[in-house]
Amino acid sequence: MQVKIIDHPLIQHKLSLIRDVRTGTKEFRELLEEIAMLMAFELTRNMPLEETQVETPLTTCTCKVLSGKKIGVVPILRAGLGMVNGIIKLIPAAKVGHVGLYRDEKTLKPVEYYCKLPKDVDERELIVIDPMLATGGSSVAAIDLLKAKGAKNIKLMCLVAAPEGINLVNAHHPDVEVYVAAVDSHLNEYGYIVPGLGDAGDRIFGTK
Ligand code: URA
Repeated sequence: MQVKIIDHPLIQHKLSLIRDVRTGTKEFRELLEEIAMLMAFELTRNMPLEETQVETPLTTCTCKVLSGKKIGVVPILRAGLGMVNGIIKLIPAAKVGHVGLYRDEKTLKPVEYYCKLPKDVDERELIVIDPMLATGGSSVAAIDLLKAKGAKNIKLMCLVAAPEGINLVNAHHPDVEVYVAAVDSHLNEYGYIVPGLGDAGDRIFGTK
């Protein structure tokens, strides 16, 4: 199982709050955004830098700036939307694509119903986001779709993962690094991550 667990104390603290059944929609959304921002900080740790000349009020100095690597953030609808703002606050130049998938009731396979991506998706480093990596079916399908559109450089960022989901993504896309805040015990018979946090989409949008 190839996965990077981002276990910064702030992330772990906020994750415990977000798991709590008593955490309401407003607080859940705020915490998810904050965790996404903290995770993005780690994910972008190795972003390349280049030197530039900056004129300060006193003199000119050689400073470092990001070397123009283009980033794309791709939330899987709908729960992935809850992580977008935290990331683009940190990386305002990132473009945001969207992938919508539903599960066919007969085949149980994810089916694409929406896909809108930046034009230059082949040149961007993409961060696919979905809070819950459960069976892994949606993430694998989303990454399949992005690769079919030309994407070459993809990372997957989730809040909580089940081992089943990580294994499926690893098996189909060994080139994709998976970043999570926690790996939980297992999936239950309804496909929920245990202990998890319930239905992330319902908790973000208050639809339960
Ligand atoms: N999706 C969710 O929102 N929660 C889970 O536990 C599993 C999938």
